[in-house]
Amino acid sequence: MADVFGTSEGSGEANDGLAPLPSPVSKTKTEGVRNSVNFRNFMPEHINKEITRRYNIDKCEIGAGGYGKVYIAKDRHFEDRLVAIKKVVKHDAQKTAAFRCEIEIMKELDHPNICKLLETYEQGRFMFFVMEFCEGGEVFDRIMETGLIAEDITADIIRQVSTALKYAHSRGIAHRDMKPENIVFCNSDVTNSHVKVIDWGLGFYFGQTRMKSAVGSLTYAAPEVLEAKETEEYSSACDLWSLGIVAYVMLCGKPPFWGSHNEQLKSMKQERYPITGEPWTSISAHAKDFIKRLLKKRPDQRMSIDKVLMHPWLTSKNNMGPAATKAVAQNVLSNLKNFSQTSQFFSICVTSVARQLDHRHLRDIHLVFREMDTNGDGTLDIEEVKEGFKKIYGMNSSQELTDIEAMFNKLDIDGSGAIDYTEFCAAGIGEKVSCQEYVLWAAFKTFDVQDDNGQISKDEIMQVLGNKDVEKAWSKDVCSDVAQEIMDMCDGDGNGEIDFEEWMTMMRTASAKNGIEADEREPEIGTQEHELVEALQDAEVTGKTGKAYDILLDLNRVGAKGDGAPQPVVVKKPTGPRGPSTGRAQEVSMTKPKQSIIVAYGSGLPRDGTGSDVVDARAGTLTHALCAESPPCVLL
Ligand SMILES: Nc1ncnc2c1ncn2[C@@H]1O[C@H](COP(=O)(O)OP(=O)(O)O)[C@@H](O)[C@H]1O
Ligand SMILES: [Mg+2]
Repeated sequence: MADVFGTSEGSGEANDGLAPLPSPVSKTKTEGVRNSVNFRNFMPEHINKEITRRYNIDKCEIGAGGYGKVYIAKDRHFEDRLVAIKKVVKHDAQKTAAFRCEIEIMKELDHPNICKLLETYEQGRFMFFVMEFCEGGEVFDRIMETGLIAEDITADIIRQVSTALKYAHSRGIAHRDMKPENIVFCNSDVTNSHVKVIDWGLGFYFGQTRMKSAVGSLTYAAPEVLEAKETEEYSSACDLWSLGIVAYVMLCGKPPFWGSHNEQLKSMKQERYPITGEPWTSISAHAKDFIKRLLKKRPDQRMSIDKVLMHPWLTSKNNMGPAATKAVAQNVLSNLKNFSQTSQFFSICVTSVARQLDHRHLRDIHLVFREMDTNGDGTLDIEEVKEGFKKIYGMNSSQELTDIEAMFNKLDIDGSGAIDYTEFCAAGIGEKVSCQEYVLWAAFKTFDVQDDNGQISKDEIMQVLGNKDVEKAWSKDVCSDVAQEIMDMCDGDGNGEIDFEEWMTMMRTASAKNGIEADEREPEIGTQEHELVEALQDAEVTGKTGKAYDILLDLNRVGAKGDGAPQPVVVKKPTGPRGPSTGRAQEVSMTKPKQSIIVAYGSGLPRDGTGSDVVDARAGTLTHALCAESPPCVLL
């Protein structure tokens, strides 16, 4: 699949050696800029509320670490909504403080490769972290299953983790427990390598206090951490040593150092570890060079995180993972423009939704964000946004670029001078924001903070908007005005409370209206297909097979449009039994061999080898339908 932004070779900034960070953008206040809202506050923290009223927690744990057990749970109101819940015990004041710190860190970190904390509960001796559920399991388990991980996939994963580290480090946060157990796959489909970093339990604000304690696990901890004494501090470079070990373990399935504590430490300090013979003979020189530059005894000689992201092993096109298609990128960018024209109240509501969305809903947006983020720091500055628009729309006139600046300021909801991931998702998601009831439900519950009674009052909205961080930017009056605007828009029956039905109606009406009013152009070629593909994915997620099939037929019709548009493809009935044994979609023979076409088939939402999205719907009905009529297919 073409890399539409052409970023794999590092566009924009010079990439020979260490590219300078882009010059910091100072936020120029332009007319019409919205008041800042700290979207991080759209993460409810419940005290003394019964978590089981809201979630049905599975009895079997899916993971256990040193500090807690993790379970899958279903939202009682919407069973489709799955979350992961980590339950920890507040043994003593020190532990409680550590858990609070973990919450603060996770709340701060807003990045596509960092697991999202959705809300927390504190109940008696227990604390619960409600997180997005990464169903693919630990990278550690994948290594155990397959012995080692292929080099291109390893590089893709290491690059994702590196961007998460760069982002965290630039906020003064070190992870300090980087290991394959703390990197999880978002999807159970093995061809999808999107990962997230979890477990910030040993995370540390190194900008505020000095890191001196010996923490982490022996296999992955840097020598300076293992030897840390109260007198000597160490830096965030400790995560880079661990990153090197993670890469090593993924590539060969074994740790580089073994033996007793002292033996290991000795080998670490001598930088002595096996990197020849099998399987290293078939591993690229770049990969080995990458590891060698990280496993340096002296932290100051270790490759810096910026250099990590510029290293040829991670920038090689072969190791980049899937890219967004042009149609997807166009759709997301056109949504950004629309969103910047919406009202303040609507942008707040959508941002509250975006804060609750998990990776399942953000697949395409995540790819576009990743490609626009050319310096890999996890936020978009004005230059990156301009560059993205130029590449997709070819715009160059000064008026167009000025428009983008105005748009940028409106999208920067928290006024940080850069577009954060959640801000990008809020703006990029478009009408899809109103598609799924359970997502709207999660956002609605963000505001139901006082009595958890399924009704939102003006006071509750003010409480969320008016918490201490926002007060810097918002006076009480502004808060009250915006809360009143939300009440006026939503409270259909005028009883002073918004119920879920009212909230849903408002979100759906407003998003449809904004979509039409803000952009009356003909849809770009490909946009229509893209929308259908998205609708299909939603139908799939909610198990609406009949609807999915109708959409597939529509897609086939849409594919027949004019020049440059994807052509309809005659798909032969798949041969053999129903798809691969894993139940994944299968590619079938086609009349245009170069086009990537996928037949809806099997279960899951996997990707094919070329990186295109593979769309599918539930097996039974579709399999039957495929055989009965000329098979519907999706062109990507
Ligand atoms: N969001 C999540 N989605 C899926 N699995 C998770 C998630 N968070 C944690 N886990 C699983 O639970 C394990 C323990 O969680 P973790 O946060 O690492 O706790 P600890 O601090 O006790 O190590 C992880 O190694 C992983 O297997
Ligand atoms: Mg852990």
